[in-house]
Amino acid sequence: MTSPDSDAIAILGGTGDQGLGLALRFAAAGRRVVIGSRKEERALAAAEEVRGQVEGADVAGFENAEATRRAGVVILSVPFEHTAGTVKAVRDALSPGQVVVSMAVPLAAAIGDGAVRTLGVWQGSCAELVAGLVPEGVAVVSAFQNVSAHRLQHLADPVECDVVVSGEKGPRERISTLCELVPGLRAVNGGPLANARYVEAWTALLIGLNIRYKVPEGTGFRITGLPE
Ligand SMILES: NC(=O)c1ccc[n+]([C@@H]2O[C@H](COP(=O)([O-])OP(=O)(O)OC[C@H]3O[C@@H](n4cnc5c(N)ncnc54)[C@H](OP(=O)(O)O)[C@@H]3O)[C@@H](O)[C@H]2O)c1
Repeated sequence: MTSPDSDAIAILGGTGDQGLGLALRFAAAGRRVVIGSRKEERALAAAEEVRGQVEGADVAGFENAEATRRAGVVILSVPFEHTAGTVKAVRDALSPGQVVVSMAVPLAAAIGDGAVRTLGVWQGSCAELVAGLVPEGVAVVSAFQNVSAHRLQHLADPVECDVVVSGEKGPRERISTLCELVPGLRAVNGGPLANARYVEAWTALLIGLNIRYKVPEGTGFRITGLPE
């Protein structure tokens, strides 16, 4: 059985806008990226796209469960309404020591309402829902919900956004280190995983700002007053 490469980053749903953006940025920073998809051929095509934009990229594509087996960090980059199903589908591929990153936002668009509002999640947040589904020994960290896919994909420019990272200390610091690999992203210590509920809701606010201020590239947050 394949054992996870602790330095590699798997992105499940890395075929979509946000996952591809993260794949491009992590590959540009020289990290090994494993793109996951429900269909291996889609993962392979996304990996090819990353190689086309990032010279020398260390990137591979696999079906989601196989991608999960290959990386120490597994980022869930599927819409909120498919997050639980995706975690359940790869659960047996997860092993103690891995970190799962919850990035989904429970937008009301999931039930046919608008993307400028969120849904109530019984557990408090999508991240806490995910934490209830992973096997023992697998940590869950909340991050990247407020980062624009468009800005991630535009490699020529820094992203310019703070990333509030929440979860247990060790895994939280591991994911904060990944944020710092992307020019313009700054990791902010978001404390316990339960704080993900605030961060997830901010994305709905950002989507509303993008509409009202006509910023298709996406707005972001900066938290001021923190010590250097
Ligand atoms: N887009 C943004 O600017 C942005 C910003 C912040 C956070 N996010 C969050 O990042 C996540 C991904 O966003 P996105 O815009 O990249 O989403 P997306 O393009 O709509 O979907 C991402 C991937 O999810 C997979 N997927 C679609 N339907 C599925 C299903 N029924 N079951 C399992 N997987 C399915 C697909 O991968 P395969 O078909 O290859 O399996 C798809 O490429 C979301 O949770 C979103 O809330 C997005």
